[in-house]
Amino acid sequence: MERFKVNKRLAIAETLPGSAYGGPGVLEREIERIFSSAWLPLPAPPNECETVLPFELLPGCLNEPLVMTRDAVGDVRCLSNVCTHRGMLVACETGSMKRLRCIYHGRRFDLHGHLEAAPGFEGADNFPRTEDDLTSISVGSIGPLWFGNLGLDCDFQEWVSSVMAIVGFLPFEELIFDAEGSQTYTVEANWKLYIDNYLEGFHIPTVHKSLAAALDVSDYRVENLPQGSLQVGVVSHGQPELPFPDSHPMHGQSIGALYFHMFPNTLMNVYPWGVSMNHVNPIADQRTQVHFHKYVWRPDLLDQGAGAGLDRVEMEDEAVVEATQKGVRGRLYKRGRYAPSHEAGVHHFHLWWTERFCD
Ligand code: FES
Ligand SMILES: [Fe+2]
Repeated sequence: MERFKVNKRLAIAETLPGSAYGGPGVLEREIERIFSSAWLPLPAPPNECETVLPFELLPGCLNEPLVMTRDAVGDVRCLSNVCTHRGMLVACETGSMKRLRCIYHGRRFDLHGHLEAAPGFEGADNFPRTEDDLTSISVGSIGPLWFGNLGLDCDFQEWVSSVMAIVGFLPFEELIFDAEGSQTYTVEANWKLYIDNYLEGFHIPTVHKSLAAALDVSDYRVENLPQGSLQVGVVSHGQPELPFPDSHPMHGQSIGALYFHMFPNTLMNVYPWGVSMNHVNPIADQRTQVHFHKYVWRPDLLDQGAGAGLDRVEMEDEAVVEATQKGVRGRLYKRGRYAPSHEAGVHHFHLWWTERFCD
């Protein structure tokens, strides 16, 4: 694992070696050491009481069968969807139900996961135990954005607190999901290459000419946070700005976009029109699915300034990321260096990754 280590000093550090981006066994190790204890997006729970919604967490990677439930009084749980008897999936489709019933041998659970009945287990010693309930996983939400964690690398408040300290004044509760404006992209590259590219504005003048026109690139900056990083997009005159209150440290700075990376693979882009949540999901060593989920609070500001033309920017990014994947696969590529004034966010992510991956 020594070969994946990154020096803590940005000015001297070398980037991750090419083999970190899809070499043998890397994704399997990431699944165990990173994704199985990370905060990951959940589908929004059902609106109706006594309704269940089965799904897989991080499909194509973790594939953990889970079920969101909303009970009779409106409480939400996210439960393992695997029967504690012999492992059958408990809920197979979304629908209204007062309890979960495994169709294999008839075991029943309430919507909090407690075992209510286990036909045929009369005479079993020491039964039922708490292990016979469905495991409930940790969840957290910011307005309509829901997250869950199978293993708890850190608690939800710790994960979101530095982000919410900056954007908590915004009306997240008012965000409306825009299904038509949401998209899924498949990128032929390792998930970290996609995130590395996201984490630096260094390439904006060379790769994104139209975005460079909306942003004041000379003022673009990155701030490392305990659970990720923030890039601040200062906009040129006349573009929509985020409405910071007078008491906010960013008040008066003409900020048109805040780009948050939340470890490991959540990107939250905050614009005057709303929030683009981008979930960067590995589905193979060198293939990534990126879900852009659009949530809007000011539809009148869509398609203006730094938050406009996201599809074009995405195509420009994918072209360089896919070509970089071909490059880092090359035998003659070893490791690069970080540009100290542009790539502190990339370095911060790599240090976080190596701490979990290597130790
Ligand atoms: S597997 Fe569910 S009751 Fe047997
Ligand atoms: Fe980009």
